Amino acid sequence: MARRLTEYADCAGCASKLAAAELDQLMDDLPPSADERVLVDYRTADDAGVYRWAGGPALVQTVDFFTPIVDDPYLFGQIAAANALGDVYAMGGTPRTALAIAALPSKDGPAPEVVRAIFRGGLDVLSRAGVVLLGGHTVTDPEVKFGYSVTGEVNPDRILTNAGARPGDVLILTKPLGTGIIVRARKYGRATDELLAGATAAMVQLNDAILSLLADLPDGTIHACTDVTGFGLIGHSSEIAAASGVLIDLDAQALPVLPGALELSAEYLPCGGRANKRHFQSLVVADSVPPERHLIALDPQTSGGLLLAVAPGEARRTIALLASHGGGGWGGWAVGGVEPADPAGIRVRLR
Ligand code: CO
Ligand code: CO
Ligand code: CO
Repeated sequence: MARRLTEYADCAGCASKLAAAELDQLMDDLPPSADERVLVDYRTADDAGVYRWAGGPALVQTVDFFTPIVDDPYLFGQIAAANALGDVYAMGGTPRTALAIAALPSKDGPAPEVVRAIFRGGLDVLSRAGVVLLGGHTVTDPEVKFGYSVTGEVNPDRILTNAGARPGDVLILTKPLGTGIIVRARKYGRATDELLAGATAAMVQLNDAILSLLADLPDGTIHACTDVTGFGLIGHSSEIAAASGVLIDLDAQALPVLPGALELSAEYLPCGGRANKRHFQSLVVADSVPPERHLIALDPQTSGGLLLAVAPGEARRTIALLASHGGGGWGGWAVGGVEPADPAGIRVRLR
């Protein structure tokens, strides 16, 4: 009998295989580049690297691939593409080209038409984003993995990074949270088709509204930006706090949540979420925060929304622009604010 696609992954809902702490250590061991054309690299925990050419736009480059999180191969391909593109959008960049990365079992693997459907789903999302597929590389592996390396361009004067959030900024999130919990619950037969459909609708949504925001808002309105993925809302907030030298204050009740995720959170937080809890300890959680909302804020997201630190005077307009961007899964939710750095080293407060 044919295996379901998610059975080719050893762990459900764990898009990132390395715990954040292990990854930090790996990267710390690499000597930093002294090349002044490198504008952003791995040292600031940003979403993509940026490299400056002699003139014109700078180059944005990123790579992301992971094990199947849904059984529908076409959907898995779509999610993988939207997720990889997300890191270019998070830098304020426009993606242009992609290279596919695929790991497939040498025997007892998914049927050829399943593999074709994965690639076709990815290609359809790349096309929707105006991105061309130039090629790729495939290896054999008992675990199916799929994703892309994406190259884009960005105006070197308008790069969005984790650094730059200022006290008084409003934090705006563009997709509801809970994809990790829903996907894991599904693996154990606990999320209905309807709940899964809600999560996948969010995951296939492109984060390209950032390009409209940059075009429509006054220059310098968006002070910092990242996409919320494997480290969850708390982890990525913590990275903004560290890079910007601020305290991030999150309002638990204001977090947008996918239908069903709160109810399933206690039992189905992926192990990546537990790793996030251990790693991001410079966090204070108020006693009044319901435990399921704390778990939602730790939940690792796949192809999550953008987290923006926006000048307070433009927050309402930003949310209105996000709401009018169209595409179904789009919205803008004010989830907290930015405060001056905490003398005791607290980076994120959830209350
Ligand atoms: Co990212
Ligand atoms: Co990434
Ligand atoms: Co896991």
